[in-house]
Amino acid sequence: MSRIRKPGDQSLARKLYTGAEIPLVGLGTWKSKPGEVKQAVEHALDVGYRHVDCAYIYGNEKEIGEALKMKLGSSVKREELFITSKLWNTCHHPDDVKPAIQQTLKDLQLDYVDLYLIHWPMGFERGEEKFPKNEDGTIRYDYTPLIDTWTAMEKLVDEGLTKHIGLSNCNSKQVAQICEKGKIKPAALQCECHPYLTQDPLIEVCNEHGVVFESYSPLGSPDRPWAKPDDPALLKDPKLDAIAKKHNKTPAQILIRYQIERDVVVLPKSVTTSRIESNFQVFDFHLTDEDMTEIASFNRNWRACIPTIKTADGKEIARDGAHPEFPFHEPF
Ligand code: A2P
Repeated sequence: MSRIRKPGDQSLARKLYTGAEIPLVGLGTWKSKPGEVKQAVEHALDVGYRHVDCAYIYGNEKEIGEALKMKLGSSVKREELFITSKLWNTCHHPDDVKPAIQQTLKDLQLDYVDLYLIHWPMGFERGEEKFPKNEDGTIRYDYTPLIDTWTAMEKLVDEGLTKHIGLSNCNSKQVAQICEKGKIKPAALQCECHPYLTQDPLIEVCNEHGVVFESYSPLGSPDRPWAKPDDPALLKDPKLDAIAKKHNKTPAQILIRYQIERDVVVLPKSVTTSRIESNFQVFDFHLTDEDMTEIASFNRNWRACIPTIKTADGKEIARDGAHPEFPFHEPF
């Protein structure tokens, strides 16, 4: 993929197809516990972040709401902020979509979000249980067609509950399908993306459709709950370290800048004050074409984020692999 960002271009945002701006770096909040996420969001806003990526299922939107309320009452204006949240899998039935965003808005103490995403294309059984499971550990699914959930999402825009809608964890076919069949086009697609999973073909499809691509787990998600000791450890890659040393930056800053260079919105998660700061100090340097080519060569199509379960006979399987909308059977 050719580079989009030119040396000298230090803008902090890119445009969605509506003309609205989305800040290139946002604070990720998956795995940020209640008890630590409030100060993380407050600190991020203090040091200049204006984009926070949230989701109902992260279980921390109430605390994030407290941080937002506090800053909106003093140093930050609502229109400067870009807040994303996501519809959980148990709410794919069209009747459940509006109540889901209303809960999120209540927790975040906002009148609207800037972007509301379908978190995963697979629906889970409706109800209070967030991961409704059979005895063998497999999920009890819901089979609402994705387009029907999308149609209910479109109504949220009409009602002013979100400025934009989009998708997460979808493959290129699902993105194309929604672009073709929907009345409102997805503004963004958020997927796992980092140098071990560069996602070039999927990004190209998004670019063709005018859909902004967002990278979650840009640091390789070292704190994912299902990490195994012999999994690849992106932040410790010696080749990455060499590039970081050359630029007098940290490996994390290189990973974040890598996405900025190719106009991908990037959502590093941290609850550590110093890291929240350094992860935002990425607008004062460039990666060269040679750096970008080298980093792209790390690609091994490795996913950190396919939750797996053990079946009764001891096999490890993709937890949601049996659902017809499971996105990762497709090459991209
Ligand atoms: P913490 O939140 O304790 O600071 P990802 O964004 O890929 O999901 O990665 C998040 C993980 O990376 C968290 O464990 C986070 O730790 C850690 N992390 C965030 N920023 C940095 C950094 N600058 N250097 C090293 N690790 C980081």
